[in-house]
Amino acid sequence: MVLFFLAIALPGSAQQPLKTLLVGVDQRSVISLDGQWHYLVEQPPAGELYKADGKVRDNGYALNTHPNLYNRDPHNEEYDFATAPTLRVPGDWNTQEPSLFRFEGVVWYQRDFDLTPQPNTRTFLHIGAANYRSFVWVNQKRICDHEGGFTPFDCEVTAALKPGSNFVVIAVDSTRHADDIPSLVYDWFNYGGLTRDVSLVTLPEQFIDDYDVHLKHDSTFSPTVPQSLEGYVHVEGAPAGTPVTVRIPEAGIDLTLKTGVDGRAPFEAKAGRLTLWSPASPKLYKVDLRSGQDSLTDEIGFRDIRVDGTRILLNGQAIFLEGANMHAEAPYRGGRAYSQQDADNIFGFLKEMHANFVRLCHYPHDERMERTADRLGVMIWSEIPLWQRISFDKPEVYAKAAAMLNEMIRRDRNKASVILWSVSNETPNNPTRTEFLTNLANEARRLDSTRLITSALIGPHFVGNRAVQDDPLAQALDVVGQNEYVGWYDRRPEDADQIVWTLPQKPVIMSEFGSEAKQGNHGGIDQRWTEEQQVNVFQHQFVMIGKIPQIRGLAPWVLMDFRSPGRNIPGLQDGYNRKGLISETGQKKLAFQLFEETYKAHSVGKAE
Ligand code: GCU
Repeated sequence: MVLFFLAIALPGSAQQPLKTLLVGVDQRSVISLDGQWHYLVEQPPAGELYKADGKVRDNGYALNTHPNLYNRDPHNEEYDFATAPTLRVPGDWNTQEPSLFRFEGVVWYQRDFDLTPQPNTRTFLHIGAANYRSFVWVNQKRICDHEGGFTPFDCEVTAALKPGSNFVVIAVDSTRHADDIPSLVYDWFNYGGLTRDVSLVTLPEQFIDDYDVHLKHDSTFSPTVPQSLEGYVHVEGAPAGTPVTVRIPEAGIDLTLKTGVDGRAPFEAKAGRLTLWSPASPKLYKVDLRSGQDSLTDEIGFRDIRVDGTRILLNGQAIFLEGANMHAEAPYRGGRAYSQQDADNIFGFLKEMHANFVRLCHYPHDERMERTADRLGVMIWSEIPLWQRISFDKPEVYAKAAAMLNEMIRRDRNKASVILWSVSNETPNNPTRTEFLTNLANEARRLDSTRLITSALIGPHFVGNRAVQDDPLAQALDVVGQNEYVGWYDRRPEDADQIVWTLPQKPVIMSEFGSEAKQGNHGGIDQRWTEEQQVNVFQHQFVMIGKIPQIRGLAPWVLMDFRSPGRNIPGLQDGYNRKGLISETGQKKLAFQLFEETYKAHSVGKAE
């Protein structure tokens, strides 16, 4: 199977170390490399990483050599990881070291680790995410590079390892470029670093690197008929005919399969009456996969999600999504979210407001978010960071977008909670962009035909009080996301009452709406920045949204105030987007209570 990842060609090294994305790696026993890593900072042009021609240097800090301090040998290096300060991994560097708070550039990470390679095994360095570009060396040997700040990658280090003490050096470059995804400008904080778990994964020579186990997605679905499961297991390095077993004891499934020439063992199996995953019963089944020396057990929920006209059907039932948007920022401590505690805090707020849905914006979040949603029964909108303007006219940028999409879907394809893949947010309506995103939407369908494809469309155009959404991109979507800020960026709050929407005849999620309020700031409903004004905006929004026949979901912008460098009104924003229902320190605004009551009563919108 050809996997296209965001690899940059490695000059010279004969056998390219395998670079992949190990599905279910969080279910494997690994050697964690989380903890304190030494670091060194390089201002642009970062000559220890990049040569004058922009190509990557292998003989700079990657060598991890040490200066001749106490001998009479000629003066050599002017750096030393061994005595350098440390940063915690996982974690962004910005909120750990005050001098790096606004730093965008290259930070070199280094740590030693002990490992004695076992015969007939292969070892991978797993990186949960690193923002934005990262370059990896082990024992001075370049292993892999990756572009994209929000998806995992796994690089084979087998050939570079030696018995005993080894070291890894990773250069992470958070510099922004026009052809990046996202591009130069975006409304969130550019946290740099090794922002998610780093570990070593040792596997047998033939190992399960990818699998897909889902409810068979026929043209029709009825919860009353016995269901079937289908999917595949891919065994890396396996010759055709390699045995694979798939066992789901609780569903009475015990399959023995054989891989084909592509290393894949596809299957379909009757599963009788399964307890289908839903917010009311987030049932997960233990799925045991085995091939040769390798085995892995995952916990997977089975559910059917589809659209029927303007309805969204979960397991055949029409549903209404009551949720919120959330950036991957940690409540209370701030910085990039990465821990189970962060996930529990975020889902704690969602559950408190009776939400059954969350839009993880505008990029894939830590895998713990999906795992937690799977367990708690919260449905997820997952998105790749094609935020507003990117270089839609460049094929190389399309390749990046497709690779990010591939990584997002591959990591979370077995997560029942994920019901929507979003290919973009608020992108300019022009033919080049529409063709780019239509191709991307179809690529998402090719990769996963069991989920709904969406995108958050930019504001409508108005004809008097008629809001008309006729963006051609909607034709490529199963569900339309609509962002609008009537009452904040556009018109007065009460004007929303008069607005009548013209929207595609598809399920529509109001994927962003709201206004800013500084927590603790109180006053009249017409006084901007007060909590009362924010509630007022939402109440008028409910009047407008409640009249839209095809509305099938709500996601106010945003669950929690979040850092954004462009938000600089002193005393009100202070570097934060203040559209949260709660402050960044977890203090609820009046609007949180409004949503708690609204979602408890299901008083806005209908499933059909
Ligand atoms: C946009 C955008 C968000 C942004 C929000 C805002 O719609 O999608 O990323 O933060 O508006 O302006 O607050």
